Amino acid sequence: MLLLVSCGDPIEVRKPTPYSLPQPAFFPDAQNNIPLTEEGVELGRYLFYDGHLSGRTHPDSMFSCASCHKQQYAFEAGYSVDGKVRGINGALTPKSMLPLINLAYNGNGYTWDGNVESLENIVRSTLVDTVEMAGNIDTIVKRIAEIPLYPPMFEAAFGTSTVTAERICNAIAQFILTLLSGDSRFDRYVTGRGTLTDDELLGYQLFSTEEGADCFHCHGGQGNMLFSTYLMANNGLDADGIPYRIPTLRNTGFTAPYMHDGRFQTLDEVIDHYSEHVKFSQTISTLMHHLEDGGVQLTPREKQYLKAFLLSLNDSSFVTNPEYGSPF
Ligand code: HEC
Ligand code: HEC
Repeated sequence: MLLLVSCGDPIEVRKPTPYSLPQPAFFPDAQNNIPLTEEGVELGRYLFYDGHLSGRTHPDSMFSCASCHKQQYAFEAGYSVDGKVRGINGALTPKSMLPLINLAYNGNGYTWDGNVESLENIVRSTLVDTVEMAGNIDTIVKRIAEIPLYPPMFEAAFGTSTVTAERICNAIAQFILTLLSGDSRFDRYVTGRGTLTDDELLGYQLFSTEEGADCFHCHGGQGNMLFSTYLMANNGLDADGIPYRIPTLRNTGFTAPYMHDGRFQTLDEVIDHYSEHVKFSQTISTLMHHLEDGGVQLTPREKQYLKAFLLSLNDSSFVTNPEYGSPF
């Protein structure tokens, strides 16, 4: 881009550097339609961790995205109150937390209701949501523009130093799109860089077969390294249950409690559900093949194998990668 100044000499405006998402082995192509740049991602990282985006000004009560989405818990909260988390004013969120994992590869909609297609819209609605961050868009824009650190970063990312709500949301969306988890022990196994224990391998076999635990139709596995189809399904939790978006099974070792209402504290309770407590309802997924038996009926030993496999999807480099951590 060239800008003409009054004296007639053209000065070159530095263009942001394109950021290419790494493609972990066997991952599908990324689905995001937001162009990423190094400078945009870096700005988004600062904003993600910055409490000035919230409706409070006192340092002790400011709230950032990272107040709820904490890296050490795969960008979940790490605690729950009746399955929910507390927002800026102490009120509880309507649903349980979702981690921020491989968002760039989900082409089928965000949130438990699966009905949000744009990450920028999630960012904007979170900022102003009265439970979550209770901010006011105009105040946020003004406040960010007044912090000396930011205008040069906006210039580097977007060509001019103007702070706008659209740019704030775009930069945060860029950053969270880079949160990539593809280096679990399971990933190392399938790429020949590591091994799994016999228990884990038996668990994987159960996970991937209809006569076993029958998880793979919804949660992927062989051929679907995201460990979710990200489609909507009713997995038989309640007699009046409805479909929710299928979550990824990556990093569940860090993300308890489980399900949209956080009803299960442990993976053992989750596995017990699929084994014995599946309930019929009008909208139950036809992929819950073992409904007639109340579940897939696993022995205690098979449950142990399945859990061992699920835990092999924990990615310790994801929860410690300094590129995803706070810049402050
Ligand atoms: C008060 C805690 C809280 C704060 C603060 C918060 N979130 Fe969330 N976030 C949640 C909860 C709870 C959900 C699940 C909501 C749902 O699905 O109904 C969620 C869901 C999401 C999702 C959807 C993930 C998916 O896989 O579909 C994204 C993306 C997200 N948040 C980004 C952000 C960003 C960016 C910020 C900062 C601007 C932020 N969140 C601040 C609690 C929070
Ligand atoms: C018909 C599709 C389907 C099948 C089959 C299925 N699941 Fe799920 N799974 C879901 C849905 C949908 C949810 C979220 C439901 C909710 O929150 O109400 C879920 C949630 C989970 C969660 C909680 C994740 C979180 O972040 O809260 C775990 C763990 C899980 N499933 C493991 C399994 C295992 C193990 C199997 C096989 C025994 C399995 N699932 C079979 C659809 C399915």
